[in-house]
Amino acid sequence: MPSQPETYMQNRSGENEAKGAAFAGPAALARSLLAWYDQHGRDLPWRIRDRGQSHGQHQSQLRADPYHVWLSEIMLQQTGVVVVTPYFHKFLSRWPTIAALAAAPLNDVLQAWAGLGYYARARNLHKCARVLDTDFRDGFPEDTATLKTLPGIGDYTAAAISAIAFARPANVVDGNIERVVARLRAVAAPLPGARRELRKLAGEIAPDQRPGDYAQALMDLGATVCTPRNPACGVCPWAGSCQARINGNAAEYPRRVAKKAKPVRRGVAYWIERDSKIFLERRPARGLLGGMLCFPGSEWLEAVGESAGESAGESAGDAGDHLLPGEVRHTFTHFHLILRVSVRRAENHETDRPAGKWVAISELDQAGLPSVMQKVARHALGAMAAAE
Ligand code: ADE
Repeated sequence: MPSQPETYMQNRSGENEAKGAAFAGPAALARSLLAWYDQHGRDLPWRIRDRGQSHGQHQSQLRADPYHVWLSEIMLQQTGVVVVTPYFHKFLSRWPTIAALAAAPLNDVLQAWAGLGYYARARNLHKCARVLDTDFRDGFPEDTATLKTLPGIGDYTAAAISAIAFARPANVVDGNIERVVARLRAVAAPLPGARRELRKLAGEIAPDQRPGDYAQALMDLGATVCTPRNPACGVCPWAGSCQARINGNAAEYPRRVAKKAKPVRRGVAYWIERDSKIFLERRPARGLLGGMLCFPGSEWLEAVGESAGESAGESAGDAGDHLLPGEVRHTFTHFHLILRVSVRRAENHETDRPAGKWVAISELDQAGLPSVMQKVARHALGAMAAAE
């Protein structure tokens, strides 16, 4: 990225711009952020940090293992650091190399992923491991163009891997970084339309030196200081240059177009029990919860109007089935789900289908159920214990 003056006069047409104030230029912004990161950045298991032992003078960054960077970046799409950390350790202890992950059966990977959500990520991770293991034996690809040809790797992840694992300059922009830049430059346009402008503004600051440290510094700033609500501007290394802080309304950025309310879908999950075992079925590979073991059940239909529960398949089902009291709630990206649980007789259900499996109740919590189905299991066991 081009070298920039240390300070410059802010003259972008921002809102309520403080006319004539001297702001830090891109080079100074990058330097102050890296100095902050060396002191306050988070020690996360996929990172290698030297905590600024070279007193901010480093011209290069330490390189993290590309397998670790790739794995963490895939896990961190849609999921936070606290949830990801134990999964990251579990995956590495089970599959210490890309070759080991490539050799694993897909169902083992899906089972280990259970609870992280967005299961297409796990299927693509596994597919990508196989491509890396067969087509990239000489080494993990370093450039964003090649990285983007791999399963599950889009613009953001390619930029993150290239910068963090290979110290290649790249414009890494995730949701945290969008928020920081929207505030720094008081971008009036709302998301998602403002994405392109935010990317461009982020690219104007991103340095050639220590690009991976810089990207992760911005992520940490967004996660720990420039937080969505109540940003801690008092301790921000960019406070002096932040247009939104100067305007006194940092928390109002990024602006967003009003989101449509998510629809509510309803359905029934079947608890089919025989000899202390429960019947589960693997969902088809494609689609929501694809490839995951789940309780069988009705379709999940959008509730419309008063008697929606019944019409949406909330009736118990066949003779002898009975609905347990209460309901299970879960939110997916595009809808809220409300499930009732029906205790169903095995003879009312095809339990010899090839995707089906009987699992001991005592082993349900290690069966690799996705979060919504773990909720169903807890609900069913709780409701039946209460009825005894
Ligand atoms: N979110 C996505 N990638 C991350 C990283 N490398 N560090 C912290 N948070 C992240």
